[in-house]
Amino acid sequence: MLKVYRPVNAKGRRTMRKIDLRSDTVTKPTDAMIRAMAEAEVGDDVYREDPTVNRLEQIAAERLGKEAALFVTSGTQGNQVAVLTHCVNGDEVIAEAESHIFYYEGGAMSALAGVQTRTLAGVRGALRGEDVEKAIRSTTNIHFPRTKLICLENTHNRAGGAVVTPEQMKSVYDIGQKHGIPVHLDGARLFNAAASLGVDVRELSQYTTTIQICLSKGLSAPVGSILAGSKDFIEEARWWRKKLGGGLRQVGYLAAPGILALTEMTERLVEDHDRAKQLAEGFRKLSLEVEPVETNIVLVKTDSINQTAVDFLKLLAEQGVFAVDFDEYVIRFTTHRHISEDDIQHVLEVVEALITSVSAS
Ligand SMILES: Cc1ncc(COP(=O)(O)O)c(C=O)c1O
Repeated sequence: MLKVYRPVNAKGRRTMRKIDLRSDTVTKPTDAMIRAMAEAEVGDDVYREDPTVNRLEQIAAERLGKEAALFVTSGTQGNQVAVLTHCVNGDEVIAEAESHIFYYEGGAMSALAGVQTRTLAGVRGALRGEDVEKAIRSTTNIHFPRTKLICLENTHNRAGGAVVTPEQMKSVYDIGQKHGIPVHLDGARLFNAAASLGVDVRELSQYTTTIQICLSKGLSAPVGSILAGSKDFIEEARWWRKKLGGGLRQVGYLAAPGILALTEMTERLVEDHDRAKQLAEGFRKLSLEVEPVETNIVLVKTDSINQTAVDFLKLLAEQGVFAVDFDEYVIRFTTHRHISEDDIQHVLEVVEALITSVSAS
C-alpha cells in the first residue's frame, strides 16, 4: 500500500492533490494579465489598427534586438511561417535531429513549405558549426537541392531543456553568414536559456536571422508567440501568416498579456530552474538516472526500476502527479509558475513510495 501524503479538505475528506508537470504550457495567466486583457485597447489587426498588438510587436522586436516582429498564434505557426518565408519548394533545411520543428510539428515543413529536412545530431541539442558546414550543399552540382535555411533550438526541449551557449550559436551563425544561409532559431524557451546563463537575451538572439519565442510557456501568457527578424522579412511573414488563417482581428485582447509576459515574467524563470534542480537532486537521491538540468526540464530514466515510462506515468497519475513520456524509458517533468517547493517535495515522496511499491511487487 502506498503511504503518500494526502491533504484533507474542509469536510474532512481526503483530496487528491494534483501536480501538473507535463509542460510549462499549462500555466494560467496572472491576475495582472487578466486585468490587462479586460482593459486592452483594440482594433482590427489585419488592418494593423490594433494598438496593443502594435505595442507588443514593438516591445518584442526591441527585446530581441530585431527590426520588426509579428504576433502569431503559436510556436508552431511562428516556426512554419519562418520556413515558408525563407524557402521555396524543394529547398533543403538543416535542423537538429531531435528539434521540435522537425520532430513535433506534424511534418509541417514538408507538408506546407515543400522543403526537405537534412537532420544532424547535435551535442545536447547544439549543432556544431563544422557539421553544418559539411552538410551545406554545393551550388554547382545540379543533382543537389539548395540549402536555404539552418534551424537551431534554444533551449533544446528533447535534450532536456539544454542551453545552447552564445559561442555554440555563433559557430553556426558564422557558417551561415559565410555561405549566405539564414539561421532561424526556435526560441520557444529562449528566455529560459538567457536566465540560466545570466545574460541579456540579445546575447543569444544576435546569432540569428529570424527567431520565434513563445509567450505561452513559462512566461504564462494564455496564447501566442512572436516571430522576429528584419522589416522586409516580417512583411513577407505577415503575408504567409494571413495565408495560413493567422490574420486575427481584435487580437489585442491576447497581445495584452503577451506584453506582460515580456516585461514582467522573464526574471522569475530562475525560480522554475531552481525547482527543476531540486527535483533532479531528489531523483538522484532515489538512485534514478537523471540528465543534467540547466533550465526547467528534468529527464528521468525509468529502466533501473523496470518500468516503462508509460507504465510509471500511470502510477504517478493515480497519485495526482502528471508528466509526459519522452522515450520508452524516459519521463519528462517540466517546472513552471504553479509548482512550489512543497509540490516538488510531495512529488519526491510519491516517487519514493512508488519505487518501493514496484520493487516489492
Ligand atoms: C521547443 C519548442 N518549439 C516549439 C514549440 C511549439 O509551440 P506551440 O505549442 O505554441 O505550437 C514547442 C512547444 O512545446 C517547443 O517546446
